[in-house]
Amino acid sequence: MAFFRTVSLSDAPPAIDGRDVVLRWPDAGDYPAWSRLRDISRNFLIPWEPAWPADDLTRSAYRRRIKRYAEDQRNDLSYSFFIFRKLDDALVGGLTLANIRRGVAQTGSLGYWMGEPYARQGYMTSAVRAIAPFAFGALGLHRIEAACIPSNAASTRLLEKCGFRREGLARQYLCINGVWHDHLLFARLRDDPAP
Ligand SMILES: CC(C)(COP(=O)(O)OP(=O)(O)OC[C@H]1O[C@@H](n2cnc3c(N)ncnc32)[C@H](O)[C@@H]1OP(=O)(O)O)[C@@H](O)C(=O)NCCC(=O)NCCS
Repeated sequence: MAFFRTVSLSDAPPAIDGRDVVLRWPDAGDYPAWSRLRDISRNFLIPWEPAWPADDLTRSAYRRRIKRYAEDQRNDLSYSFFIFRKLDDALVGGLTLANIRRGVAQTGSLGYWMGEPYARQGYMTSAVRAIAPFAFGALGLHRIEAACIPSNAASTRLLEKCGFRREGLARQYLCINGVWHDHLLFARLRDDPAP
Protein backbone atom coordinates (compact mmCIF):
# COMPACT_ATOMS: atom_id res chain seq x y z
CA MET A 1 0.00 0.00 0.00
CA ALA A 2 1.61 3.21 -1.20
CA PHE A 3 0.82 5.15 1.97
CA PHE A 4 2.94 2.89 4.16
CA ARG A 5 5.85 2.44 1.81
CA THR A 6 9.47 2.99 2.76
CA VAL A 7 11.29 4.89 0.04
CA SER A 8 15.05 4.82 -0.26
CA LEU A 9 17.26 6.24 -2.96
CA SER A 10 20.09 3.72 -3.15
CA ASP A 11 22.57 6.18 -4.67
CA ALA A 12 23.05 9.91 -4.24
CA PRO A 13 19.82 11.74 -5.06
CA PRO A 14 19.86 13.54 -8.40
CA ALA A 15 20.71 17.24 -8.47
CA ILE A 16 17.63 19.35 -7.94
CA ASP A 17 17.12 22.33 -10.18
CA GLY A 18 15.81 25.57 -8.66
CA ARG A 19 15.22 29.00 -10.16
CA ASP A 20 18.72 30.37 -9.60
CA VAL A 21 20.28 27.57 -7.54
CA VAL A 22 21.06 23.86 -7.90
CA LEU A 23 20.87 21.49 -4.92
CA ARG A 24 23.52 18.78 -4.96
CA TRP A 25 24.56 15.94 -2.69
CA PRO A 26 27.63 17.07 -0.62
CA ASP A 27 30.90 15.32 -1.44
CA ALA A 28 34.51 15.33 -0.29
CA GLY A 29 35.53 17.88 -2.94
CA ASP A 30 33.21 20.50 -1.43
CA TYR A 31 35.28 20.72 1.77
CA PRO A 32 37.36 23.85 0.94
CA ALA A 33 34.33 25.92 -0.14
CA TRP A 34 32.15 24.60 2.68
CA SER A 35 34.69 25.23 5.47
CA ARG A 36 35.54 28.71 4.14
CA LEU A 37 31.89 29.73 3.90
CA ARG A 38 30.97 28.34 7.32
CA ASP A 39 34.01 30.04 8.84
CA ILE A 40 33.26 33.52 7.48
CA SER A 41 29.56 33.07 8.38
CA ARG A 42 30.16 31.81 11.91
CA ASN A 43 28.79 34.83 13.80
CA PHE A 44 25.80 35.02 11.48
CA LEU A 45 24.87 31.34 11.93
CA ILE A 46 25.68 30.33 15.50
CA PRO A 47 22.75 32.12 17.23
CA TRP A 48 20.36 29.91 15.24
CA GLU A 49 22.12 26.53 15.09
CA PRO A 50 23.00 23.68 17.46
CA ALA A 51 26.32 24.43 19.18
CA TRP A 52 29.27 23.89 16.84
CA PRO A 53 31.75 21.23 18.07
CA ALA A 54 35.28 22.63 18.52
CA ASP A 55 36.59 20.62 15.52
CA ASP A 56 33.56 21.30 13.31
CA LEU A 57 35.43 22.92 10.41
CA THR A 58 38.31 20.43 10.27
CA ARG A 59 38.74 18.11 7.31
CA SER A 60 38.36 14.99 9.48
CA ALA A 61 35.08 16.22 10.98
CA TYR A 62 33.91 17.01 7.45
CA ARG A 63 34.77 13.44 6.34
CA ARG A 64 32.66 12.09 9.23
CA ARG A 65 29.85 14.47 8.28
CA ILE A 66 29.84 13.25 4.67
CA LYS A 67 29.89 9.63 5.82
CA ARG A 68 26.93 10.28 8.13
CA TYR A 69 25.01 12.02 5.37
CA ALA A 70 25.53 8.99 3.10
CA GLU A 71 24.50 6.49 5.80
CA ASP A 72 21.41 8.51 6.71
CA GLN A 73 20.41 8.77 3.08
CA ARG A 74 20.92 5.01 2.51
CA ASN A 75 18.69 4.34 5.52
CA ASP A 76 16.04 6.83 4.36
CA LEU A 77 16.54 8.89 7.54
CA SER A 78 17.77 12.18 6.15
CA TYR A 79 18.64 13.85 2.82
CA SER A 80 21.27 16.61 2.84
CA PHE A 81 22.07 18.98 0.02
CA PHE A 82 24.46 21.81 -0.62
CA ILE A 83 23.10 24.80 -2.51
CA PHE A 84 25.08 26.16 -5.46
CA ARG A 85 24.41 29.41 -7.26
CA LYS A 86 23.73 28.72 -10.94
CA LEU A 87 25.51 31.86 -12.07
CA ASP A 88 29.00 30.70 -11.03
CA ASP A 89 28.53 27.36 -9.20
CA ALA A 90 29.50 29.01 -5.88
CA LEU A 91 28.50 27.08 -2.77
CA VAL A 92 26.06 29.42 -1.00
CA GLY A 93 24.42 27.30 1.73
CA GLY A 94 22.89 24.00 2.74
CA LEU A 95 19.55 22.35 3.28
CA THR A 96 18.59 19.07 4.96
CA LEU A 97 15.39 17.09 5.07
CA ALA A 98 15.93 15.16 8.29
CA ASN A 99 14.08 12.97 10.78
CA ILE A 100 12.19 11.19 8.03
CA ARG A 101 9.36 9.22 9.61
CA ARG A 102 7.54 6.67 7.52
CA GLY A 103 4.55 4.51 8.50
CA VAL A 104 1.50 6.60 9.27
CA ALA A 105 3.51 9.88 9.47
CA GLN A 106 5.34 10.17 6.08
CA THR A 107 6.97 13.37 7.24
CA GLY A 108 10.37 15.06 7.47
CA SER A 109 11.91 18.15 9.13
CA LEU A 110 13.49 20.86 7.04
CA GLY A 111 16.65 22.63 8.19
CA TYR A 112 18.73 25.18 6.29
CA TRP A 113 21.55 27.72 6.45
CA MET A 114 22.77 30.41 4.09
CA GLY A 115 26.32 31.74 3.98
CA GLU A 116 26.33 35.34 5.19
CA PRO A 117 27.70 36.86 1.93
CA TYR A 118 24.79 35.30 0.05
CA ALA A 119 21.96 36.02 2.51
CA ARG A 120 18.88 38.00 1.59
CA GLN A 121 19.27 37.46 -2.15
CA GLY A 122 16.42 34.98 -2.55
CA TYR A 123 18.61 31.87 -2.77
CA MET A 124 17.00 30.02 0.15
CA THR A 125 13.55 30.80 -1.17
CA SER A 126 14.58 29.14 -4.45
CA ALA A 127 16.10 26.17 -2.62
CA VAL A 128 13.10 25.51 -0.34
CA ARG A 129 10.69 25.83 -3.25
CA ALA A 130 12.80 23.36 -5.23
CA ILE A 131 12.99 20.75 -2.45
CA ALA A 132 9.20 20.44 -2.16
CA PRO A 133 8.65 18.47 -5.40
CA PHE A 134 11.51 16.12 -4.37
CA ALA A 135 10.04 15.61 -0.89
CA PHE A 136 6.47 15.07 -2.05
CA GLY A 137 7.41 13.32 -5.31
CA ALA A 138 10.57 11.16 -5.18
CA LEU A 139 10.37 10.65 -1.39
CA GLY A 140 6.59 10.32 -1.29
CA LEU A 141 6.23 12.43 1.85
CA HIS A 142 2.88 13.77 2.97
CA ARG A 143 4.20 16.61 5.10
CA ILE A 144 7.32 18.76 5.53
CA GLU A 145 7.82 20.29 8.96
CA ALA A 146 10.05 23.17 10.02
CA ALA A 147 10.62 25.01 13.27
CA CYS A 148 12.22 28.30 14.15
CA ILE A 149 12.86 30.52 17.14
CA PRO A 150 10.14 33.23 17.18
CA SER A 151 12.70 36.04 16.93
CA ASN A 152 14.17 34.56 13.72
CA ALA A 153 12.47 36.97 11.30
CA ALA A 154 14.40 35.67 8.28
CA SER A 155 13.41 32.03 8.83
CA THR A 156 9.78 32.87 9.63
CA ARG A 157 9.42 34.99 6.51
CA LEU A 158 11.16 32.35 4.39
CA LEU A 159 8.74 29.62 5.49
CA GLU A 160 5.66 31.78 4.98
CA LYS A 161 6.90 32.72 1.49
CA CYS A 162 7.43 29.05 0.66
CA GLY A 163 3.89 27.95 1.50
CA PHE A 164 4.41 26.71 5.06
CA ARG A 165 1.65 27.38 7.58
CA ARG A 166 2.19 28.22 11.22
CA GLU A 167 0.77 25.48 13.46
CA GLY A 168 1.77 26.43 16.99
CA LEU A 169 4.48 26.96 19.54
CA ALA A 170 6.47 24.09 21.03
CA ARG A 171 8.04 24.82 24.41
CA GLN A 172 11.82 24.36 24.71
CA TYR A 173 11.67 22.38 21.48
CA LEU A 174 15.33 22.44 20.37
CA CYS A 175 18.68 23.14 22.01
CA ILE A 176 20.12 25.98 19.92
CA ASN A 177 23.59 27.34 20.61
CA GLY A 178 23.49 25.53 23.96
CA VAL A 179 20.10 26.83 25.18
CA TRP A 180 16.66 25.17 25.01
CA HIS A 181 14.43 27.48 22.98
CA ASP A 182 10.69 27.60 22.34
CA HIS A 183 10.04 27.20 18.59
CA LEU A 184 7.30 28.13 16.19
CA LEU A 185 6.16 25.04 14.30
CA PHE A 186 5.41 25.25 10.60
CA ALA A 187 4.34 22.65 8.05
CA ARG A 188 3.55 22.33 4.40
CA LEU A 189 1.34 19.45 3.26
CA ARG A 190 1.54 17.67 -0.08
CA ASP A 191 -1.88 19.03 -1.04
CA ASP A 192 -1.21 22.62 0.03
CA PRO A 193 -1.09 24.97 -2.95
CA ALA A 194 2.42 25.72 -4.22
CA PRO A 195 3.32 29.38 -3.51
C1 LIG B 1 17.03 31.96 7.36
C2 LIG B 1 17.96 32.01 6.15
C3 LIG B 1 18.31 30.58 5.73
C4 LIG B 1 17.26 32.73 4.99
O1 LIG B 1 18.08 32.62 3.85
P1 LIG B 1 18.11 33.75 2.72
O2 LIG B 1 18.78 33.18 1.51
O3 LIG B 1 18.64 35.00 3.30
O4 LIG B 1 16.53 33.92 2.43
P2 LIG B 1 15.88 34.69 1.22
O5 LIG B 1 16.84 35.70 0.65
O6 LIG B 1 15.29 33.69 0.29
O7 LIG B 1 14.73 35.54 1.96
C5 LIG B 1 13.51 34.99 2.38
C6 LIG B 1 12.67 36.09 3.02
O8 LIG B 1 13.22 36.40 4.29
C7 LIG B 1 13.50 37.79 4.38
N1 LIG B 1 14.68 37.99 5.18
C8 LIG B 1 15.93 37.51 4.96
N2 LIG B 1 16.77 37.90 5.93
C9 LIG B 1 16.02 38.68 6.77
C10 LIG B 1 16.31 39.36 7.96
N3 LIG B 1 17.55 39.35 8.48
N4 LIG B 1 15.31 40.04 8.57
C11 LIG B 1 14.06 40.05 8.06
N5 LIG B 1 13.70 39.39 6.92
C12 LIG B 1 14.69 38.73 6.29
C13 LIG B 1 13.75 38.20 2.93
O9 LIG B 1 13.61 39.60 2.77
C14 LIG B 1 12.68 37.38 2.21
O10 LIG B 1 11.38 37.95 2.35
P3 LIG B 1 10.79 39.00 1.25
O11 LIG B 1 10.94 38.35 -0.09
O12 LIG B 1 9.38 39.20 1.69
O13 LIG B 1 11.61 40.25 1.32
C15 LIG B 1 19.27 32.81 6.49
O14 LIG B 1 18.90 34.10 6.93
C16 LIG B 1 20.14 32.14 7.52
O15 LIG B 1 20.87 31.20 7.21
N6 LIG B 1 20.07 32.62 8.77
C17 LIG B 1 20.93 32.15 9.85
C18 LIG B 1 20.71 30.69 10.19
C19 LIG B 1 19.25 30.36 10.39
O16 LIG B 1 18.44 31.19 10.78
N7 LIG B 1 18.91 29.10 10.13
C20 LIG B 1 17.53 28.64 10.26
C21 LIG B 1 17.19 28.25 11.65
S1 LIG B 1 15.46 27.85 11.79
